[in-house]
Amino acid sequence: MSILFRHRTGWLSALLTLALLISFGSRAQADAPKAGQVAASKRVKELLSAMTLEEKLGQLTQRPGGMRSDDNPEVARTKLEDLKTEIREGRVGSLLGAFGAEYINDLQRVAVEESKHGIPLIIGNDIIHGCRTTFPIPLAEAASWDPTLVERSAHIAAVEAAASGTDWTFAPMVDICRDPRWGRVAEGSGEDPYLGAQMAAARVRGFQGRDLRAPDSLLACAKHFAAYGAPEAGKDYNTVDISLATFFEVHLPPFRAAVDAGVGTLMSAFNEINGVPATANRFLMTDILRRQWGFEGFVVSDWTAVTELVAHGYARDDADAAALAIHAGVDMDMTSQAYRTHLAKAVDEARIDIRTIDDAVRRVLMGKESIGLFENPYTDTTLHDKVILCDEHRHAARESAGRSMVLLKNEGAVLPLNSSVKKIALIGPLADNQRELLGTWASIGKAEDVIAIRTALTEAVGDGVEVAYAKGCDIEGGDTSGIAGAVEVANKSDVAIVVVGEAAGMSGEASCRSNIDLPGHQLELVKAIQATGKPVVVLVASGRPLAIPWVAENVPAIVQIWHPGVEGGHAVADVVLGKINPSAKLPITIPRNVGQVPIYYAHKSTGRPPTDQFFTSKYRDVPWTPLYPFGFGLSYTTFEYTGMTLSQSKMKPGESITASATVTNTGKVAGDEIVQLYIRDKVGSRTRPVRQLRGFKRVSLAPGESQTVEFKLTEKDLAYWDNKFGFEAEPGEFVVWIAPNSADGLSAEFELIEQQRN
Ligand code: NOJ
Repeated sequence: MSILFRHRTGWLSALLTLALLISFGSRAQADAPKAGQVAASKRVKELLSAMTLEEKLGQLTQRPGGMRSDDNPEVARTKLEDLKTEIREGRVGSLLGAFGAEYINDLQRVAVEESKHGIPLIIGNDIIHGCRTTFPIPLAEAASWDPTLVERSAHIAAVEAAASGTDWTFAPMVDICRDPRWGRVAEGSGEDPYLGAQMAAARVRGFQGRDLRAPDSLLACAKHFAAYGAPEAGKDYNTVDISLATFFEVHLPPFRAAVDAGVGTLMSAFNEINGVPATANRFLMTDILRRQWGFEGFVVSDWTAVTELVAHGYARDDADAAALAIHAGVDMDMTSQAYRTHLAKAVDEARIDIRTIDDAVRRVLMGKESIGLFENPYTDTTLHDKVILCDEHRHAARESAGRSMVLLKNEGAVLPLNSSVKKIALIGPLADNQRELLGTWASIGKAEDVIAIRTALTEAVGDGVEVAYAKGCDIEGGDTSGIAGAVEVANKSDVAIVVVGEAAGMSGEASCRSNIDLPGHQLELVKAIQATGKPVVVLVASGRPLAIPWVAENVPAIVQIWHPGVEGGHAVADVVLGKINPSAKLPITIPRNVGQVPIYYAHKSTGRPPTDQFFTSKYRDVPWTPLYPFGFGLSYTTFEYTGMTLSQSKMKPGESITASATVTNTGKVAGDEIVQLYIRDKVGSRTRPVRQLRGFKRVSLAPGESQTVEFKLTEKDLAYWDNKFGFEAEPGEFVVWIAPNSADGLSAEFELIEQQRN
């Protein structure tokens, strides 16, 4: 008999199971049951009863609000006047892409003072990893395994964006991704739902702060709901065909964590899920999100995702698409204009109940109310200059970048560079680059603000050490003429640092790659430098894990620096010179080649787990292990794990078990270790992954120092999706690891025993 996990809800579960059995979605009909009824304030009630249907649909409409920099002044003026007319007439409730406090205040004044009901606009923007102070890409920050650090970065982004007139960020992106070909892997927290959930909650806390009405907070938006990170073949916008178990266990937990952390909004995804596009998916946005999770905020579609229902082959035309999306639970239409164009007719024809529209408007207006927009619609224009790119923010960005860099290899302790090094060859297309270090979705970040690696290193080493630079080759492209010059520079040096990787635009939306090797001739450059016989350090600047098997095999030192943001150069100098001892761990597996993809640590065992035997699950032309496993990362010191113990060998439902182990710094310098807790449910009524992360802790240890690290496990940590709508732990044996990464560690076993009936 199974032990039910407590927050399962009986009737709801049955209802949802029924919904599941019927279909993963359901088509719009006028008499649909209501869900997600949000209590309205007095103001919102009054507004709702005073507004016309057209004005209501205006509140559900989001329009681009920025003027393009290449518009000629006359075109820009006309566009601005048209936009103001729309606002004045109450045909738009939200703008995206508008920046600058004065500009936004000007538009807001039209909404507040010149429209009939004076409802303020809500201004949304993609504040993904910083505003003007660009932090490392989210994937990089997830490598810090430090929710407090991540929360601080999100808060700083909020401070700067709010001072620039933004109310609402389309972040965090909490999509789990196990396929590094997908360009948007850069924007998420990697492959694991547990780590992803911690990061999701931290970012929501950071953006929203303690008081959503404060002038330094943003309304957050967990996106893209859901499973956008699981497109076939890692190709953006592609079909998602997924088991419900994987959907519930892997892709939904970070959204649930964001909702539990109080996220104000969600964004519906572009993709379909098992035949029903997310943006028309009532099961997702009404049954799960509102009924089961109790979410009270509002849902915005992704950009034109409503009318894309037609291209999906799910809606007949734009009018059908609008009806399907609002019925499913999408409250605001991002840019397609289908709601304001077609929903009045749908209401007239009784296809959509006016109460469905009212529910959506109530949620949007309550969202505006929750951030204090009615009382305070304008941005204080004096704030911007005080906060943008201030020293405190730069300092935080530097710390985040340093904490995100993963030391993958350090044979012969090449790093940190020691005082005998008098001449450094700094080589590679990313060594003296500013723009690409910003990474994808850098908001209003500017290349000129970025501290390049060459600048920072030259300054940090001081007068006694020479930094000689050679680009070697481009990031992409066929020109190899610079390689000989780079070799010459390396030949005259004590050590060569080669900075290779990807341009910012090689990851991010629609920027998927079918090949995840180093682009262009960069590997040739690394090989040529390695052939000089000098000690070589390779720094990989990228928006995704890159397959670098030759580098891993041949080069003594490698650091994954990701796209580290505005302070990237300083952080690299900190790491290379030992001012920072690396502590980051991979939030995603690094494959040996693209053919291994998808490859992730929490895979199933199969009936024939890989061994040297022929008829086992593996490829014949590549080892079955990844190049670097999830959770892996080295330090300039070494750590030893000893004395794994469990507080008991049997656990009853309702009890907890404590796993502990001692971690000792066995090296010569102080360092931080991220200690990880994994479990395996040995036998399940559905097969279970070979390992699952269930906890992590950072310990800071002086040389020779030890600390006992404890983790408490409860039934909740052992539970998995029960084929209905709850999570359930089954009696049986479990393995627990306390580990430095997902492939190593100390283990012990215990048994979860059945509740005795009286
Ligand atoms: C499309 C992207 O998928 C989404 O993440 C973003 O927030 C919107 N565009 C708005 O820029």
